[in-house]
Amino acid sequence: MSDPLRIGVAGLGRAFTLMLPTLRADPRVKLVAGTDPRPEAGALLAREFGARIHADVAALCADPEVEVVYVATPHQMHAEHVRLAAAAGKHALVEKPMAINLAQCQAMVDAARAAHTQLIIGHSHSFDLPYLKARAIVERGRLGAVRMVNAQYYTDFLYRPRRPEELDTAQGGGVIFSQAAHQIDIVRLLCGGRAVSVRAQTGAWDPARPTEGAYAALISFTDGVFATVVYSGYGAYDGDELAGWVGESGHPKNPDAYTSGRAKLAALSDAAAEAQAKAARNFGGAAYVPGAAPPHHQHFGHVVVCCERGDIRPGPAAVVSYGAAGRISEALPAPAVPRREVIDELWAAVREGVAPLHDGAWSLATLEVCLAILESARTGREVPLHHQVAPQPVRLA
Ligand SMILES: NC(=O)c1ccc[n+]([C@@H]2O[C@H](COP(=O)([O-])OP(=O)(O)OC[C@H]3O[C@@H](n4cnc5c(N)ncnc54)[C@H](O)[C@@H]3O)[C@@H](O)[C@H]2O)c1
Repeated sequence: MSDPLRIGVAGLGRAFTLMLPTLRADPRVKLVAGTDPRPEAGALLAREFGARIHADVAALCADPEVEVVYVATPHQMHAEHVRLAAAAGKHALVEKPMAINLAQCQAMVDAARAAHTQLIIGHSHSFDLPYLKARAIVERGRLGAVRMVNAQYYTDFLYRPRRPEELDTAQGGGVIFSQAAHQIDIVRLLCGGRAVSVRAQTGAWDPARPTEGAYAALISFTDGVFATVVYSGYGAYDGDELAGWVGESGHPKNPDAYTSGRAKLAALSDAAAEAQAKAARNFGGAAYVPGAAPPHHQHFGHVVVCCERGDIRPGPAAVVSYGAAGRISEALPAPAVPRREVIDELWAAVREGVAPLHDGAWSLATLEVCLAILESARTGREVPLHHQVAPQPVRLA
């Protein structure tokens, strides 16, 4: 193995804490620097990793040791932080969603192209092994072409502590930007990427949290393929029941603790207290608890892929196919490194020059579908899509 990829982190918040078990465990990456306006986060990063702490993202990007900037700042900042990384000649791994509008996404693609740097958008749950494996089964062709995909997930997304802009759709708030970004990425991967149009409805049912908490969409793809996606973040039914009580992050889940988030939220007096509660749980914060490595793969709810000669159901412990040969369950090995698929793709792109699946063009197309869900719900019309691309073939380690 050549030298590990030297990572500088912009934004030491929730997304970073979820990526931290990966960054700790994968020998192909080394965390060398970071920046965050919260001094307690920088102090802990310096203590734990001996990382250099910079005053801002521009200084992080200028650090000669930093090779890849992991952009884990709020969505509305992604475009500017990728611009800074590319201007400094640094590769960028950017949290989903790529940005909050297509002009920002295009600027990010252009900046990386001009700088000859890699731009990878992730983690999104379409990196998770169950979906990559399902896509690989499709590519193998035994079950024939994909005809239809159904994806559904029910979570408590809306009742976790949020920053005010996370509850304001105009600033990228709500489940379309944060959660459809995962679900659409998965469905596009399984259906071959090239969506043609979207017809959708959205729900914003809680006046105290006035952004979309739910949606349902019918997505048409080329060759007559279609998909339905359904999501509710209103925290009543728990979609992890259909994943054997394995949560989104791959940890076993207590079904009876599910609604406690709502009760904790109700005890917070106002938006500032809620934002503080979120920050306190983040890296270096007073309520920060380091995440343990999960025993199962991460997932994003119940997904069924219908092909010409059978169906495929990816799950956190196995991918099951149903066809003429009967029911075949392919167990997934426990993840030695959680989310290692993100590092597989980053490593292959930066060290081996392999075109990444989740590049800028791919992720711009996912955001286009997300924005079309909002537009279709607003106008009551089917929305045509113009920026769709096919995925690169899946490379399984
Ligand atoms: N892939 C996943 O599973 C996942 C999970 C959560 C969040 N996310 C994504 O990660 C991004 C961040 O969301 P979050 O929930 O972590 O938010 P957060 O508020 O928990 O964290 C954001 C962090 O960025 C810091 N920050 C703010 N401005 C900054 C700046 N100018 N420079 C450097 N740091 C700055 C904040 O202090 C905070 O620590 C979003 O785009 C979100 O969609 C992805």
